[in-house]
Amino acid sequence: MITPFNFTLPTKIIYGVGMLKVLPEELKKMKAKKIMVVTDSKLVALKLTDKLEEWLEGFDYIIFDEIEQNPKDYNITKAADKAVEFGADTLIAFGGGSPIDAAKVVAILAAQGGTVREYMHKERAIEKAIQLITIPTTAGTGSEVTFSSVITDSKEKFKYTVKSPLIASKVAIIDPMMTLTVPPSITAATGMDALTHAIEGYTALCTEPLAEAMGLWAVKYIAESIEKAVMDGSDIEARDKMMMGSLMAGLSFSHSDVAAVHCMAEALGSLYDAPHGVCNAVLLPYVMEYNVTASEKKYAEIAHYMGLYGPNDLMTASEGIENIKIISRRIGLQGLKSLNIKTEDFEILSEMSEKNGSNFSNPKEINRQDYLKIFKRAYADS
Ligand SMILES: [Fe+2]
Repeated sequence: MITPFNFTLPTKIIYGVGMLKVLPEELKKMKAKKIMVVTDSKLVALKLTDKLEEWLEGFDYIIFDEIEQNPKDYNITKAADKAVEFGADTLIAFGGGSPIDAAKVVAILAAQGGTVREYMHKERAIEKAIQLITIPTTAGTGSEVTFSSVITDSKEKFKYTVKSPLIASKVAIIDPMMTLTVPPSITAATGMDALTHAIEGYTALCTEPLAEAMGLWAVKYIAESIEKAVMDGSDIEARDKMMMGSLMAGLSFSHSDVAAVHCMAEALGSLYDAPHGVCNAVLLPYVMEYNVTASEKKYAEIAHYMGLYGPNDLMTASEGIENIKIISRRIGLQGLKSLNIKTEDFEILSEMSEKNGSNFSNPKEINRQDYLKIFKRAYADS
């Protein structure tokens, strides 16, 4: 019997090459009068925001471009103050996961006030948020269709998840053309983040059949196209498949959960401000090695979706894990050592991983001692 579940998707998804063109029409339908774009300075420097601005002609808008990697509480406060001062009724989150996650919390603060801390620590209920359009410029985060936002508490150096269907975007415009100029290193890192979402969304303890289906198809799309997209950024077919893989992976984990890889990656991101995708990539196969005895059937299925078949589930699963290590190396991602981590921090990182809200979603029970062993193993192997 399938365990009862519900599947809510408040976001209208508009997908396709060249579909950014629907932005003016969607803004009119949403009756947007005062628009604030939430993005980061790199996208402005790369002139990617110019493409967006072409479609904003005639609208009253401002651009806030001060969102940092691993968005911090103070980024949100500053952006929300700007939104209130401008009288924004609509936000456009434009970028990778950081601007999109940030915009979701800016939308709450701009609508109902309060401090970021109150929402991060669940001291105040989320009752409303101003309307949001998400336009991803990387294939990785999936944040354009999730109801959650991961924000770093800058004092505690710990990442908290703010979750509510009210912060889901009203419209997600997902145009693979936006990723054509993403450099290979970012394509690789964000792509591995998406692969991690797919695998964790499919295998998390709280998963359900729709999340499982989308997780598996995401694995297929990503495994088929990640190397091509990294080697030739202008390969629109590969970019298209990566974008679809990332979208499906986002839908999967947001209706299931992430698990131990993200628990560890978020600890690394909080303590070292390291890129989220790289943190996931350097840990994913090692967490899978730990989980394999509890997930061999599902891991074998993942390997099948990568086109791999072995004599039994365990051997097929192991082949899949090895394949992830190979893909990672081929797309230029180095191991855990490349993040310049101090080994004496492994204890605190393991403690932080255990405290993560997704720890209990891991398919195999895991505690700080287990995390410590995985950190050491990943480090020794890199
Ligand atoms: Fe992620």
